[in-house]
Amino acid sequence: EDADYNKISDEYNHLIETIPKTNGLRGELLYNYNGFWLDPMILKTNFLLHTYFKSQPTDIFLASVMKSGTTWLKALMFSTLNRHLYSFSDHYLRHHGPQSTFPLLDFESYPITDFTHFPAPRLFATHFPRTLLPPCMTSCKFVYLCREPKDVLISCWHFMSNYRSKDLPPLSLDEAVDIFCKGHSDYGPFWEHVLSYWRASLEYPDKILFLKYEEVKKEPEVVVRKLATFMGKPFTAEEVEKRVVENIVNLCSFQTLSNLEVNKEGVEKFGRLEVGVENRHYLRKGEIGDWKNYLSEEMKQRIDGITHERLKGSGLIF
Ligand code: A3P
Repeated sequence: EDADYNKISDEYNHLIETIPKTNGLRGELLYNYNGFWLDPMILKTNFLLHTYFKSQPTDIFLASVMKSGTTWLKALMFSTLNRHLYSFSDHYLRHHGPQSTFPLLDFESYPITDFTHFPAPRLFATHFPRTLLPPCMTSCKFVYLCREPKDVLISCWHFMSNYRSKDLPPLSLDEAVDIFCKGHSDYGPFWEHVLSYWRASLEYPDKILFLKYEEVKKEPEVVVRKLATFMGKPFTAEEVEKRVVENIVNLCSFQTLSNLEVNKEGVEKFGRLEVGVENRHYLRKGEIGDWKNYLSEEMKQRIDGITHERLKGSGLIF
């Protein structure tokens, strides 16, 4: 095992000496690995997952670009799949941050946790694009969540500003737009990330449930029913009668989650990472179109132009 790890470390150390690097939104270096810009620690985790992560055929993954509403989907998937385990009045989510519901694989480190003690179906989250996944994962079911790029950018800009080194000047919106448009944001370019799952979802429609933040916002109950069916646990007539779907939607709503003590004060630790992320940073505003409050007409046109160009002919629109 250690020999494997040493080999991975050597490969990784060699790789980051040779591949392109740039500064991302946090001002930290990101590295371009097979077309995508990754934080070096996360790149190393990607190597580790390829060697050590063993998927099970029943696993279900949530994949997304950062700031697409991952937190929300985690809450929805967890409470839908485990609805027999909790009452709505004293639910797990009332006492724990939504990020804690299931692990984000990208923040694992050596030795990779052996998740065999998780009951099936196991839930995992990742921000890796489809093309960087360990091959064993690609035959599993995926829920993919994306969001209108201008809203993703504004959400990222706010979020990353919290985690920028205090030695650096604050990130201007101009800079943030430029970095995002060049694709130099974590896991970027945004468009290639979305396309990687979009194309796979056309090829394997029963394996990949492709969702947009905007549709979850507009019809959360329809989405929760889809999720239940997709995860192999469709709602029974009795559950529908008892308004279980509405209860899940209400529990996971921005209104409910953002007002819970745990999400106002709590901090989420990831794996063995030293630093935590404050739960409130995952629940900022939760609206469609907040970009209108920030972006100039010129910025809007620049991003829309790229979106149009990159997604042309794919059948995917925002
Ligand atoms: P905003 O910054 O636009 O408010 P992620 O979870 O992928 O990091 O994405 C975070 C974004 O999803 C934030 O967007 C956050 O407010 C929003 N979000 C989180 N929970 C939500 C919920 N329950 N309902 C709607 N939006 C939510």
